[in-house]
Amino acid sequence: MPDYRREFFDFGPITYLNCAYHGPLPRMTAARIQRAIQIESDPTQLEKKDFFDLRERIRTRLAGLLGAQPGEMALVGSATQGIGIVASGLDWRPGDEVVISSENFPSNLFTWVNLRRRGVRVNVLRPEGGFLAAEQVAAAMNSRTRVLALDWVNYSTGVRINLAEMGELARRHGALFVADGTQGAGAVELNLNALPVEVMTAAAYKWLLAPYGTGFLYLSPKVQEQLELKVVSWLSVNGSEDFDALPTEDFTVTNSARRFDILAFLGMYGLDASLEFLQRVGVRTVNEHCTQLLDRLAQGLKGKGYALSAAADAERRSTILCFQASSPEATAALYQKLKSQKIAVSLRQGMIRVSPHLCNGEADIDRLLDATDGR
Ligand SMILES: Cc1ncc(COP(=O)(O)O)c(C=O)c1O
Repeated sequence: MPDYRREFFDFGPITYLNCAYHGPLPRMTAARIQRAIQIESDPTQLEKKDFFDLRERIRTRLAGLLGAQPGEMALVGSATQGIGIVASGLDWRPGDEVVISSENFPSNLFTWVNLRRRGVRVNVLRPEGGFLAAEQVAAAMNSRTRVLALDWVNYSTGVRINLAEMGELARRHGALFVADGTQGAGAVELNLNALPVEVMTAAAYKWLLAPYGTGFLYLSPKVQEQLELKVVSWLSVNGSEDFDALPTEDFTVTNSARRFDILAFLGMYGLDASLEFLQRVGVRTVNEHCTQLLDRLAQGLKGKGYALSAAADAERRSTILCFQASSPEATAALYQKLKSQKIAVSLRQGMIRVSPHLCNGEADIDRLLDATDGR
C-alpha cells in the first residue's frame, strides 16, 4: 500500500490518533480552501457557475463514495441539521413514537427527545453489555413507531451496528430508519442503495476529512416524498440558475434532495477536495489501513491485560477502538500520561478512544503501546 502520510501535514512532536475527534485536512484540501478565500476576496473571479457546479460535483462524489444517487444527497452543515430537517419535516400525529439509543451522540438524541413537547412518545433505549442488541430494539418497536434513529458507529465505544438488521426491523414496523453515519462514513465501506436505510446524515469533519461545518444528508426517494420543506432557499427552487429572471411567487421546488441544501460556500470547496482525495484513495484502502493498525494495537493491549470495547469483535468493528485500565482512575491517569507524552487520543465515557487514519503508521501505534505499562 502506498504511504499516504505525505498527503497530510506534519503534526510536529504529536502523534495524532484522534480522527474520531476531527479528521486531519489533506494538504490538497487546505490548498483548495485557500484558493476559495482568494476567489471570495476578489469576487471578479467568482463565476455564476461556481454557485451550481461545485454543489453538483460534491453531490456526485458523495453518491459515488456512499453507494447512492446524486439526487438523494443534500449538503448540510452538520449532522444536527440533517436530523433537524427530518424531525421537523415529518407530519407528527398524536401517539407517534420514536425509538433511539441513550448512547447516540447528542446530534441524534436531543432533537428527538425535544419532540416530547409535541406529544411524541420518545423511547430511549439503554444498551446493556457494551452495545445495543437487535433484540432490545425489536422489543421496543410497535405499530406506532414512526422513526428508529441510531448511530452507525458509536462515538464513545467504536461499536458499529448492523445497518441491514436494524433497517429491516424498522421496515417491518413501517418506521423510517434514520442513521447518523458520522463515525463511519468515509472509513467503512457503504452501499446505501442496497440497504434498508431511509435517512443517513453525517458530519464530514471526521472520516470524510473535510472542514468543521460540513456534512451530508442522504434521503431515500420515499422519505423525500414524506418530508415537508420548512425553509425554502433561493437555491431550492427550479430556475435559480437564471439570475436575470429568478422565480417569484410562482416558484416550484426541485424534486430531488437538493432542495434541502444548506451548506456554506467556503466549506464546500474543502468538502469537494477531501471527497476527491478519498475517491482517489478509496474507502477500502482507508479501512484496510486502519484495521491493520487497530489489530496491532488490540494485540498489544490484550497482551498487557487491558479491557477492549466491544468494537474489538469482528462483527462490530469500525476504525475506532477503545480500551480501559483496571479502574476509571487508572484509565484517567493513563490518558493524562499519553497527553503529557504528546499522544493525542480521547477519553470518552471512561475509555481511551484510539482512531487512526492514513496519516498514521505502525510506529504511531508502537509509541502508544510503549506508553502503556499494563493494566
Ligand atoms: C456520531 C456523531 N454524530 C455527530 C457528531 C457531530 O455532530 P454535528 O455535526 O451535529 O456537530 C459527532 C461528533 O463527535 C459524532 O460522533
